[in-house]
Amino acid sequence: MFVLKDVCFSADGNQILKQITLSINHGEIFVIMGLSGAGKSTILRLLNGLIRPDSGLILVDGTDISKATEKELGPIRRKVGMVFQSSALFDSLTVAENVGFAWRNDRISKSELAQKVKEALALVRLADVESKMPAELSGGMKKRVGLARAIAMQPQAILYDEPTSGLDPMTSNTILSLIRDLNERLQVTSVVVTHDLEGAFKIADRVALLHEGEIIFVGTAAEMEQAQIPLVKSFLTGGQGEQGGY
Ligand SMILES: Nc1ncnc2c1ncn2[C@@H]1O[C@H](COP(=O)(O)OP(=O)(O)O)[C@@H](O)[C@H]1O
Ligand SMILES: [Mg+2]
Repeated sequence: MFVLKDVCFSADGNQILKQITLSINHGEIFVIMGLSGAGKSTILRLLNGLIRPDSGLILVDGTDISKATEKELGPIRRKVGMVFQSSALFDSLTVAENVGFAWRNDRISKSELAQKVKEALALVRLADVESKMPAELSGGMKKRVGLARAIAMQPQAILYDEPTSGLDPMTSNTILSLIRDLNERLQVTSVVVTHDLEGAFKIADRVALLHEGEIIFVGTAAEMEQAQIPLVKSFLTGGQGEQGGY
């Protein structure tokens, strides 16, 4: 679904991603882990065409988007849904308007739109919240609405940036099982960025560890636990200390 080849990205003179090479398979849950500032969110923004690399190739379902124009990126962005860390809901729009946002320019009847919104909300196990405002929702519900908005456009892949950050352990678990459930039911490819080691291991088919803009490990969770790479070991034991340890 995604191929990155020798991808470099810099901003303000800092090299944020260094020669990233990575393949993410159709239908898998691929988790990208790493400390805060490692470059995880930057990878998601590249996969979605929100930013462009300085060099290297980025293939989305076989199409190179590394030099695509804004117009060429339109169809790509429809294939790739994004769930932002902050949920990024529009505070002045209702839940239904948020979830239906992808169709705002489409010719679609009101009842058809309401049906699509309802279906997307049902998939994240929410009902009767269409007329609520984001401010009336709990943190976990906001995340679900963000998720419903992403799946509403029937993407082939969903990118999740820190889907469990700021949630209590029980709500985090619910969101993680929802990610797994949606991956299977919608047959999508899921790319999940997180620094939550336990959560990552629960849902990942494969895991990558990013360290200061470089991929230092790719494999299954079991392979990661066996890896004889000092930086991987210290990440797993929380030896790096940042964000209160792992
Ligand atoms: N547009 C940008 N301009 C300047 N610095 C940026 C930009 N985007 C990201 N960075 C920097 O790149 C590094 C990686 O950022 P990010 O991808 O958000 O890391 P992560 O998601 O792993 O915490 C950070 O040091 C961040 O400050
Ligand atoms: Mg981030």
